[in-house]
Amino acid sequence: MADSGPDPRSPIDPAINTPGREGLTGTAPASLYAPSPDREAITIAPDFAPLDAQPAWRQDFPVDWPQDLYVERRDFMKFLLLTSAAFAVGQIWIGVQNWYRRHSGQPPVRRIASVDDIAVGAAIGFTYPDEQEPCLLVRLTVNEFVAFGQKCTHLSCAVIPRPAEGSFYCPCHEGRFDIRTGVPTAGPPQRPLTRIVLDRRGRDIYAVGVEERTA
Ligand code: FES
Repeated sequence: MADSGPDPRSPIDPAINTPGREGLTGTAPASLYAPSPDREAITIAPDFAPLDAQPAWRQDFPVDWPQDLYVERRDFMKFLLLTSAAFAVGQIWIGVQNWYRRHSGQPPVRRIASVDDIAVGAAIGFTYPDEQEPCLLVRLTVNEFVAFGQKCTHLSCAVIPRPAEGSFYCPCHEGRFDIRTGVPTAGPPQRPLTRIVLDRRGRDIYAVGVEERTA
């Protein structure tokens, strides 16, 4: 009787690296499936010294330095995506607020302070046109006053007046604005600070309007 190939009833050889089976589907050498090192077991100290040269406490709190610095690409992309989305939403929100303000009638007329309340080179805070909008009034000279919204036009941190340096300073990302014009002079901000229109009536200074600017 002619040989008709392997007897289908014979037991299947379970070893994947049996000689003669190389190259067949599912017969990769066993070494391919060697377990990868346990990440938890890897402990490379920040100073790269061997484990037996490490202080005793590090045995209890092993810090694997490469793992500590390891950021998966997916996590990084997620972070980028989220920060970009947050930035875009913030810009849209600012735009919607500005649009609403422009279309909701005239801003109120509000007394900020008396000229006697503020020394030359000093600044005081107030809110305008509502309680949610912090602003700064700066006395530049005896008769020169300027006022701007305090929110940085980058990411809305509160700017700090530095009249001696002629600037508003944003501590979040080192942004700077000209104290006379509110125009950005350094750092990431691209748009000027919101200008508060002032009106002096006798010895009182009033806020009478808001001027949003894009450049
Ligand atoms: S929030 Fe002001 S510079 Fe970024």
